[in-house]
This record gives sequence, structure tokens and C-alpha cells, in this order.
Amino acid sequence: MINTALPKIWYGGDYNPEQWGPEEWAEDVRMFKLAGIDVVTLNVFSWAMTQPAEDIYDFSGLDATMDRMHQNGIYVCLATGTGAHPAWMARKYPDVLRVDYQGRKRAFGGRHNSCPSSPTYRRYSQAMAARLAERYKHHPALLIWHVSNEYGGYCYCSACAVQFRNWLQQRYSSLEAVNRAWNTRFWGHTFYEWEEIVPPNELSEEWSGNRTNFQGISLDYRRFQSDSLLDCYKLEYDALKAQTPHIPVTTNLMGLYPELDYFKWAQHLDVVSWDNYPSLDTPVSLTAMTHDLMRGLKAGQPFMIMEQTPSQQNWQPYNSLKRPGVMRLWSYQGVARGADTVMFFQLRRSVGACEKYHGAVIEHVGHEHTRVFRECAALGAELEALGDSLLDARVPAKVAIVFDWENRWAIQLSSGPSIALDYVAEVHKYYKALFDQHIQVDMIGVEQDLTGYDVVIAPVLYMVKPGYASKLEQYVSAGGIFLTTFFSGIVNENDLVTTGGYPGELRRLLGIWAEEIDALLPGHTNEIVLQQSWGALEGRYECGILCDLIHAEGAEVLASYGTDFYAGMPAVTVNTFGQGKAYYIASSPDEAFLSGLLRNLCADRGIRPLVEATEGVEAAVRAKDGHELLFLMNHRPESAKIMLQEGSYLNMLTQQTVQGEVELSGRDVLILKK
Ligand code: GLA
Ligand code: ZN
Repeated sequence: MINTALPKIWYGGDYNPEQWGPEEWAEDVRMFKLAGIDVVTLNVFSWAMTQPAEDIYDFSGLDATMDRMHQNGIYVCLATGTGAHPAWMARKYPDVLRVDYQGRKRAFGGRHNSCPSSPTYRRYSQAMAARLAERYKHHPALLIWHVSNEYGGYCYCSACAVQFRNWLQQRYSSLEAVNRAWNTRFWGHTFYEWEEIVPPNELSEEWSGNRTNFQGISLDYRRFQSDSLLDCYKLEYDALKAQTPHIPVTTNLMGLYPELDYFKWAQHLDVVSWDNYPSLDTPVSLTAMTHDLMRGLKAGQPFMIMEQTPSQQNWQPYNSLKRPGVMRLWSYQGVARGADTVMFFQLRRSVGACEKYHGAVIEHVGHEHTRVFRECAALGAELEALGDSLLDARVPAKVAIVFDWENRWAIQLSSGPSIALDYVAEVHKYYKALFDQHIQVDMIGVEQDLTGYDVVIAPVLYMVKPGYASKLEQYVSAGGIFLTTFFSGIVNENDLVTTGGYPGELRRLLGIWAEEIDALLPGHTNEIVLQQSWGALEGRYECGILCDLIHAEGAEVLASYGTDFYAGMPAVTVNTFGQGKAYYIASSPDEAFLSGLLRNLCADRGIRPLVEATEGVEAAVRAKDGHELLFLMNHRPESAKIMLQEGSYLNMLTQQTVQGEVELSGRDVLILKK
């Protein structure tokens, strides 16, 4: 449990009383109670208020809010407020200001704007965390710490350049090793002094954000910046923990955000929390995958939905309203996939600046007679009634999909073979095929133990880190099913090609050699032609993006290409390795192929769908105390009929017993206990 002080699904969100006065404060509390809100996130952007000048700290406003919350039975997720530095700090200590990708020194403005190498930022953010911990360590409302806010963005200043060199010295020990790792003989880049190394931005090696002349340099800069921001987080974490070891600490992550290696970050979070902002047309499977990834960061430990909007965003190009029922539906989607909180940004809408058109529980009209408030209050009552019944429940899965940020960076930075290759999209294709079949999946990192999984899928495992190939070999030889795809096994962790034939270190396991890689033009496809029918698959399927031209070296050929000069060469292979099997999919297949493929692999291991697949209905299971809690979520406005597996179930929201076929209204949710 995140904190036993509040043993239910926490309900609330970001609350900025500093933007209001006593009249609204009283109304806020009254309406929070009406909505069943029991947690408020305070102080997220209050650094300028809590430290109005270098030597002055002022917690009077925060004291009053903390006390008011406690007097009204509301708990606090207390932010340290360091997500935006005060204007006085930027004026007095320009080292806090970042240098951007174009090499321009930033002026004061925006947020999430501090240079991670700035001594001023590090000193004062840590001091702020220490003061907050000292002041509120015994406050009865304090439930959890929220460090800074949505860490992200990179800096390219001279202080970062110095720290980058230090970071490189730590990682490689010698300049010779750096030169080797970056292959600097190419284009005469050999570095003879550490000081010659500069950050890779538009002034040096990069352009368009992820195009680079030197993958090794750019990859290491991403690692370094992710580590630097993590160091800033850790400074605050340690300051908080020193005084409140019993209070959990988190920072809000952003799902598939590209710039930080969240698997590494998660090791330093007591609980993962994240901000979920799908738009009206985001595939529900992509949101589901993101929740599963956030759960996977700490190997299945429940996580927090720190933010979502009750109705609409302001920063998307088209900020559609969540349709009636959708806020509740998407909240339960998170809970079904492992969230133990449902929290919003924001509780009351601001009147000025860029978030005034961002949805809130309390709208500008200021009272509770709104659609949005009614929906929020109805959900609040449900969560209250559910009590602790779902808390801490785990999400059992026999299938795992591997996700790795460094592999993602390396693929993005790669010059060739195709700009159409999108790592997240390829991962999502495999995820969606399973999601549509109601097969539960864990999203795992490369550090994760593989025993316990029947099927492990690693789409585009381009970068193979030290020891990973042998870990996969052990897993497969012990009986596991492993699947990987085109453009895998190509490089080591420094983005240096493993010579001796693709897929490099994975060649033995897969029993193939990939001789060449063809990139298909937009709109061009090839075909995957089955040798003979295989379970749910037969005939021809489309494929595209990249086609590896492979030779079977011990692997059995299941399908071959249908067209072009490599027609007849293998497109899908399986290699028996010890007790298990290793599959290679040499191109990016269409949905129909993936659906059949995953059906076959699951059938091979007796992995059953949670329920029969029904269009538009999502299914997920959490398990607790030997009970399974089945979530059925209808993402369509029309009602749906679902056939349950044998046995009878308790509807957790109505306390009625159900069995056999159930009808689920449009956008409705069922939570059934077996
Ligand atoms: C992010 C931030 C919040 C707010 C919301 C708006 O998630 O953390 O402060 O800006 O976006 O959607
Ligand atoms: Zn910097």
C-alpha cells in the first residue's frame, strides 16, 4: 500500500489555492467533500511563494492550507515546488537558466526550466526539500511527497559540457575508450583532450532533434542528461527521506515521454506516478500499453495516476471534451491496469495564463451543478464504496513485451535504414494484437527476470546490451518462447555494430543470418507468404517498412517473401533452442498476421483470453488475496454483450451476482469478482 493512512483508492488532484482567496477556499472544501475528494496535490509551482527572496522563506500560506485540509479530513500529496525556479533566482544566478538546442541562453520564463548542472539550482532545490521535510514531517495531512514536476528537456550549457566530460570519465575511464566507443576515427573526430568534447546540439553534431552525425555522442548525451536530472531528483529525495523515512516519495512521469530512461528513474521512486493525457483519438490500446509500462517500471508494483483531466486539455491542437462517461471509463482503465489512485489536474480552473481553458473538477462557473462535477462526484462515491478491495492487487501476466529507452534512442538516432521506423509504434503493434485478444501483458525492461513468462516479445531489439543475449538464451533453453523482429541484434550498447553477420549476438539463438536490410518506400509493401497453414495463419499477408533478407541457419522457415528480388527468401522463422523456441519476424507485418501469430504463440502455451474478444471492449484482471477481479470496459457508445468464462461473479459496483452473458452499456465498466 502506498501509505496505509488512507486505505482506499486516492481521489483528488492538483490544487492551487494560492491563485485564489478565502471565499473560494471555503467553497473548495465544501465541493471536495461533495465529490469524495480525499487527496490534494499542493505546492507544485510555488517556489516563488515559499522562497520569495534568497534569504527569505515563507510557508505561512502552505501552513494554512495544510491545516485546512487536515481539519476537513483531506490528505496532502505535497510537492516540493521546484519544477519552476523563481524569477529572482534567474536574475541573480543566471547559471540556473538552460541553453537550448539551438545554443541560445534562455531568459526567465516557462517552467521545467532549470539547468540540471546548475550549482544554484541544485543547492536551492535540495534546501527547499529539506525545509519542507523539517516543517511538515509531523503534519497529519502529509501522505506522500511529490518532487518537482514532470522532469524533462535537455540543457546544452557550458556547465553541462563540463559535467558531461565528468560523466564520460566515470563511464569510460579513459579518453581512448571514449574515442573507441564513439568510433571517432570516422570524419577525423579523434579527441586528444577532454575539453575538446562539446554537447551535441544544432551547433555541433545534431539537427531536427534526433538526426546526428555521431550516434555514440548523441546517445551518451541522452544518458547523461537523463542521469543529471535524476541526480537533481535524488538530491531532493535524500533530503526528504532524511527526515521522513516513512513517507513515500514520487515524481510524476509522463508515460512514453522520450527523453528520460524511466526504468532507471523508477529505481529511485518509492512509487511510480504518471500523468495520463490521451486525446479523443488516441487508441485505447496505446493508453493501456502506457499504463502497463508504468506498472512495469517497478516490476508490477501498483502505481499512481497523478494527473488526468476531468474534461479537456488546453495544450493539444484540438482539446475535445471527454464524452459523458469517458472520464470514469479511463479512470477505471488505469485502475484495471494497476493504478491505486485516480487524480486530476486540476481541482479548480485558473482564470489567467495558458491553463485557463484546461478542464477542472470545479469549472469557472464556480458551483457543483455542472456535468463534469456530477461525473466526478459519482466516481468519487464509487471509489469510496470500493474501499480497499482493489488496493495493492497485482496484474498477472504470462506474456511480456520488452521496452528499452536506450534502444529507442539508438533507433531514433540511427541514420538509416528508414525514417519510417518508429520503435514505439512497432512495440504497440505487438501489444495491440494481444490487447485485442484480451491477453494480459507485462511491459518489462531489460533488467527484468524472464523466468515466469511463457512468451517474451522484443520488437526491434536493435541494441543488445551486455549479457542480454545470454539471458535470452537461458530463458529459451529452459522452455520459453521468444520473439524478435527485423533490425535486431545490430549494435552493442555504444551503438557499434556487432560484426560477423546480423543479428549479431542473437544469431545463435535465432538460427538465422540477415545478410541485407531493404527499406520500403512509403506506400510500398511486400508479402509474407506462409509455406503451409500454421494454426490461425494461412495464405498471404502484407508487410512493410523494412525487410531483412535472411538465411535460415538451423531455423525452420514458416513463411517467405512474396515479391521483389528476394521473393522466396525467409520472412518468418522459428528456431528450436533447448526446450524452447525463438521466432524471427523479418519485416513489419499487417494486423491480420500479428493477430494470428500471437494467437498461435498463446495457444502453444495454453494462455487463454480473459474473455471472448468483443469489439470495443477492453478486459483486464487484477488479483488479490487469491481472488481475481475482472474489469470489462466498453469503449464504445453502444452497448455490448460479453460471454463470461464459467463460474459466477460478484459485481463489485452493484453487489449483484452475474454469470454467463452480460450486457455492458456504452462506455460502462464492470468490475467482477470471481
Ligand atoms: C502536466 C503538468 C501540469 C499541467 C498539465 C496540463 O501534466 O504536470 O502542471 O500543466 O500538464 O495538462
Ligand atoms: Zn546546463
